[in-house]
Amino acid sequence: MKVSKSTLDYINRDKSIFATVQHIADLPFVISKAQGFYLYDTEDKAYLDFTSGACTMNLGYDRAHVADSTSFPFPYALGCAQIEYGSRLIEKYTFYKDKKMMFCVTGSDANDGAIKIVRAYSQRKMVVTFSGNYHGTTYGAASLTSLEGRLDNHLGPMLPYITILPFCPYDASDEAVDECLARFTSLDLNDVAGVFLECIQGDTGMLPINTTFLERLNAICKEHKILIVSDEVQMACYRTGPFFSIENYPFVKPDLITMGKHIGGGIPLGAIIGRQEVMQSLKPCEHAFSMAGNFEACMRGLYNFNIIEDRDFKLQLAKRIALMDFFMDDLCHNFSDIVIKCCGVGLARAVFVRSLYTSDTDNEACYKIICSCFGRGLYLMRIGSNWLRLEPFLNMPEDLMLKAFDIIKEAFYEYRSNKIDDGVKKYMS
Ligand SMILES: Cc1ncc(COP(=O)(O)O)c(C=O)c1O
Repeated sequence: MKVSKSTLDYINRDKSIFATVQHIADLPFVISKAQGFYLYDTEDKAYLDFTSGACTMNLGYDRAHVADSTSFPFPYALGCAQIEYGSRLIEKYTFYKDKKMMFCVTGSDANDGAIKIVRAYSQRKMVVTFSGNYHGTTYGAASLTSLEGRLDNHLGPMLPYITILPFCPYDASDEAVDECLARFTSLDLNDVAGVFLECIQGDTGMLPINTTFLERLNAICKEHKILIVSDEVQMACYRTGPFFSIENYPFVKPDLITMGKHIGGGIPLGAIIGRQEVMQSLKPCEHAFSMAGNFEACMRGLYNFNIIEDRDFKLQLAKRIALMDFFMDDLCHNFSDIVIKCCGVGLARAVFVRSLYTSDTDNEACYKIICSCFGRGLYLMRIGSNWLRLEPFLNMPEDLMLKAFDIIKEAFYEYRSNKIDDGVKKYMS
């Protein structure tokens, strides 16, 4: 993997300016611009992005400039764009007839807002979430997050009255389902305000929740008037097939939905949508942000919303999902010596790979495969150490998807034949 001098210069400057907390990506890649479905490095080399800008730009980078020169954010006041977009977005929440919504700034603060709402509405304290969920990094959202290797104990004390229970994955045995439920029912259910779900855990390897577990959990929540919050920050807007990922489990009617990432079309924007009487439990200023629902984010979001709501778009999306299904089956079958597990739904997929040539704990396989793809002009990310994250743009043309699949397979072959130089690990974190 050749790293140009200009990229190296930027990397050195980055290291000298930014605190460690800002360093998440670990490829020697500095983006100079983004266009269409491509990211460009400092030498103008193009890389096909197979992450959708970490799901913030689900439709590619071309629609970045839809707001005109008259658009500017004005804090707290009502804006036309905000009302137009809000009235479209709220239509997608079909779980209850009477509903309300609010805009936030990020996915994290949408989750913080949802914690406040469930507590204010129920007048109970306890909030339940599951291991491996990722809800963000503001203090409330971070307190709900137990993703391994991301947020550890030195940030404490975290928000009190949060219980993190074991996640029950799609392939759990009947006994494991019973055990997970027993942990839930052992709580004082009359003091549980809400349960936060990430029904397809994005940052743990696109792991879907167990259907039986969720069905039974949902029934217990209804019985004890415990609110259900579905975190859709990463998965909303058709990434998993339906508009919200929770619609893959049609028996659940979430009281609240939290959103972020893609909905601002590249400008920070979050949202909470939910059952009216629940949403109305906060007073003005109890979750207010100067830039919440800002004009430009709403303009861009609405522009993208109109595209994804088009009938033809949905038909095309179904074809892309079918293509992805086929590729995943093929990859898992052909590389069963490297692939431990393929997970995910729709265009939210992950492949758990194992090291063939070093100890499993070395976690080199995934990084090496990503480097090999990168060298061939495909940009991918890892989840944790050994999950390969595959989240293509929702509107990626078929020929580009096929090109990406070919590159990924070539990288797998290269790894299997031990041809990826150890030198690439220089930048691995
Ligand atoms: C499921 C989920 N919830 C919440 C968040 C936090 O969103 P943000 O980074 O916009 O604060 C993320 C971000 O990755 C996410 O994937």
